[in-house]
Amino acid sequence: MVVGAGVVGLACAWRAAGRGLSVLVLDRDEPGAGASGVAAGMLAPVTEADAAELDLLALGIESAQRWPDFAQELREASGLETGYRRCGTLVVARDRDEAEALERELELRERLGLRVGRVLPSAARRAEPALAPTVRLALEAPDDHAVDPRLACAALAVACERAGVVLRPGTEVAEVVVRDGRVAAVATATGERIACRRAVIAAGPWSGHLPGIPEAARVPVRPVKGQILRLRDPAGPGLLERVVRFEGGYLVPRGDGRIVLGATMEERGFDTSVTALAVYELLRDAAELVPGILELVLEETAAGLRPATPDNAPALGASGALEGLVYATGHHRNGVLLAPVTAELIAAELAGEPRAHPFSPDRFAHHGVTA
Ligand code: GLY
Repeated sequence: MVVGAGVVGLACAWRAAGRGLSVLVLDRDEPGAGASGVAAGMLAPVTEADAAELDLLALGIESAQRWPDFAQELREASGLETGYRRCGTLVVARDRDEAEALERELELRERLGLRVGRVLPSAARRAEPALAPTVRLALEAPDDHAVDPRLACAALAVACERAGVVLRPGTEVAEVVVRDGRVAAVATATGERIACRRAVIAAGPWSGHLPGIPEAARVPVRPVKGQILRLRDPAGPGLLERVVRFEGGYLVPRGDGRIVLGATMEERGFDTSVTALAVYELLRDAAELVPGILELVLEETAAGLRPATPDNAPALGASGALEGLVYATGHHRNGVLLAPVTAELIAAELAGEPRAHPFSPDRFAHHGVTA
């Protein structure tokens, strides 16, 4: 049983079915309707790198390297595109302070052996002519690409069904049922009880809050809100080729004239309202760097909830505190990036292989659960 049909839950279900397991996926909504459907889809282990999270960096790099084959396999299995683009990323500084910060970021990445380069403003503007003349410095991460998470989720749902996975959208999990000290079933909001041997919790920020899971087996996952805008150039593609990141945001071109502009980072519980302030600030900051975005059509505003753990790394694998309970959650800013490697690790563990990574859900045993 997989609880949650986001990009992580679907990828786990697909890979588990590929190992011959019988898989049912429950989601209270449609596949990809949560954070996956809001996400911009940056595959950015290099530009998101943090020196304090080296295991996470390694996991991200491994997953980024898996994405091309994952996308190709998904295309073959589903007949659908994922929108994977080898576009690379430019990180741009607007003033002297940001340029100094970028130098430090560059130095850190060079020290970690990551592929990055310093780009002078003139070269940055030759590469991306839509950039404003105010650009002070840029950093190029040629291996940080992007995918369209909505397309990827749609492809995963079809690939799952073709692999024999049963998808049940519109089915809310009310309780994980524990009997004789192990997971025995899942009870739905309509009172149905569905037996299972293992329950993989891939329910985003709700993963830490499912009723029925004993306190000792919970992982502390909290929602980190991200507001995002979807823009479209009526003139078609061409305004930007690469992902452009800046202090406080990013622009992710889809290659068809659509551009995603994100995102806020807010600790506001399960609130998914879109605020005028966020829309204003995202547009103001992005337009300072790429003035042309103000000509675009604003097609959509949305807010999603990133599932964050106390150390920002995911919780992957079987709980040591409750037999049959498996976590695939807590991917915070990197769920789309980490979906391929998460799915491999979870499917391997479900198939009985020993765990060989440090992202055990048991590492939070003494944290207690954060609301
Ligand atoms: N990975 C980008 C974000 O979470 O906003």
